[in-house]
This record gives sequence, C-alpha cells and structure tokens, in this order.
Amino acid sequence: MQIMKNILICPKCKCDLIEYDKCYKCPNNHNYDKSKRGYVNLLLANQMNASSPGDNKVMMNSRKEFLNCGYYEQLKNKILDYLEDNDNITIVDLGCGEGYYSYELSFTNTVYGLDISKDMINEASKKMNNKDNSNLHYVIASINNLPFVNSSVDVILNIFAPINLEEVKRVIKKNGKIIKVIPGEYHLYELKEILYDDVYLNTVNEFNDEDIKLINSYDLKYKININNHDLMNILIMTPYYYKTKKQDKEKLKCVDNLDVTFDFIIQEYECLKKR
Ligand SMILES: C[S@@+](CC[C@H](N)C(=O)[O-])C[C@H]1O[C@@H](n2cnc3c(N)ncnc32)[C@H](O)[C@@H]1O
Ligand SMILES: [Zn+2]
Repeated sequence: MQIMKNILICPKCKCDLIEYDKCYKCPNNHNYDKSKRGYVNLLLANQMNASSPGDNKVMMNSRKEFLNCGYYEQLKNKILDYLEDNDNITIVDLGCGEGYYSYELSFTNTVYGLDISKDMINEASKKMNNKDNSNLHYVIASINNLPFVNSSVDVILNIFAPINLEEVKRVIKKNGKIIKVIPGEYHLYELKEILYDDVYLNTVNEFNDEDIKLINSYDLKYKININNHDLMNILIMTPYYYKTKKQDKEKLKCVDNLDVTFDFIIQEYECLKKR
C-alpha cells in the first residue's frame, strides 16, 4: 500500500521515490527497503569515502551520553526558538547524528534527518518508533548527493556537520533558510588549555556565495562544570580525539572536573535565488 507523499528521489535515476509500507520504489523499479526501525539507505556504494563512513559507534555512544546530560539543551532550545513561527514546514537536518535536534522539530514539522553514518541513523531511528511519528524520516546519504527533489526544502539545519552548498541550493526553495551552527572562538577553550601548550581561538567563517545571504548571526555562550567522565566523552565525540597525541590525552585523565565554555555561533542564511 502506498503511504504518503515525500520529497525523496532515487539516487540511481533521480526519479521521485514512492513510499510503501516496507520500502521506497521509483518508476524504474529501483527498490530501497526500509530497515526494521524504518530508516532507508540511499547511499550508493560509489558515494562512500570509506567502508563505514561518518562517525563510528564509539563516537556515537559518547555523543549520545553527553547530549543526554543536557549540556546542549540551551542550543536545542535556541534552534527551536528560531523555527517556532514556522509550523508544518519541511526541514532537512544535514549530518543529523543521533537525531538530537530532528526529533523535537518533527513534533510540528516534517523532518528528514540525513547522515552518512549507519550507526548514527540506526540510533536516531530508535526514537522514531517510540513516537510512531510519520513526520520524521531518517536517511543514510551523503551531503554531496542529497536524495531530495529540487526546490522542495524550506529549512536546512546544519549543526557541527559538513555541508555542500551546491547541493543545498538545488534542494532548497527560493527564500528558504539555512541554519548553520559552528563553534565560536571560545568553544571548549578550557579543555584545549589542558590538552595543548598553545591554545588558539577557533576561527569563525561565513559562507561567501552571492545566492546565500547571512541575515542573522548569534553567539550563544555559557559555562558548565563538567566531571571527568563527561570531559572524556567530549574528547571522543569531537575531532580533538584524532588530533591529540596520546600523551596529551592522558593529561585529561587527571582532571576531576572543569568549568568549560560552550560557545556556538548560530548563523541564519536566506537562499535568494534559484539557478
Ligand atoms: C559532529 S557530528 C554532529 C551531529 C549532529 N548534527 C549534532 O550536532 O548532534 C557530525 C555528523 O556529520 C556526519 N557526516 C560526516 N560527513 C558526512 C557526509 N559526507 N554526509 C553526511 N553526513 C556526514 C557524521 O557522521 C556525524 O554524524
Ligand atoms: Zn530509480
């Protein structure tokens, strides 16, 4: 039985996908089964840059545990504030991770959470079933091959994740919005002071694209005391884990707790015209 209208396209032939109970199908008979949890894998083998691309299970578990402690709740509430006047719109959460933001936005909107990591999407989908929510869809795909119809998306949400602006411009509606969150200058400053001898402030960049106009930039900054276990979680869920030498990581083990600055730049852009 056909279920409902959606904005997904077939990654092979780019035709619209029709959603059925247990799968999605295009008119050329390309078939994509839904997983037990309801997500769909639209990532073709030649679109992967590794055998298991994106964040792995270890990073996912640390991120999940950390987010569940509520340290990023202020950021989540700010994102919800940004979108509160926009009920019933179509949002794509690009690089959605374990769905911390997608889930709540789907109470009042249609949300597509997209991530290249199967572990992340599998985890995100657990909440989908709890809520039996037909407005929330999870898709394994790459930011470089967005499986969405042209000009079909009202808002692109992009939090601490990569983005491909050309693909975004293809799928977003005229005057659609991009909400991008990047680390502010002082994000995790005190943690970096423990790990490194020379600590640099993060650089904050904006898109430089004539079709994409920055209409608002907000710096959300607060400090929280974090215990050792959660400090280790921050390290594992961020690129610092791979960038930091083993002997420097050891330094963190001796820190019982630390006041850490969270500094987020929330950039709101408008997409001015279609190609
Ligand atoms: C730092 S996490 C952020 C997750 C989520 N937005 C959050 O803030 O909780 C970055 C995410 O981007 C995903 N990612 C990395 N490269 C990607 C790509 N090429 N296409 C889609 N997702 C990608 C990773 O798998 C990971 O889940
Ligand atoms: Zn097809």
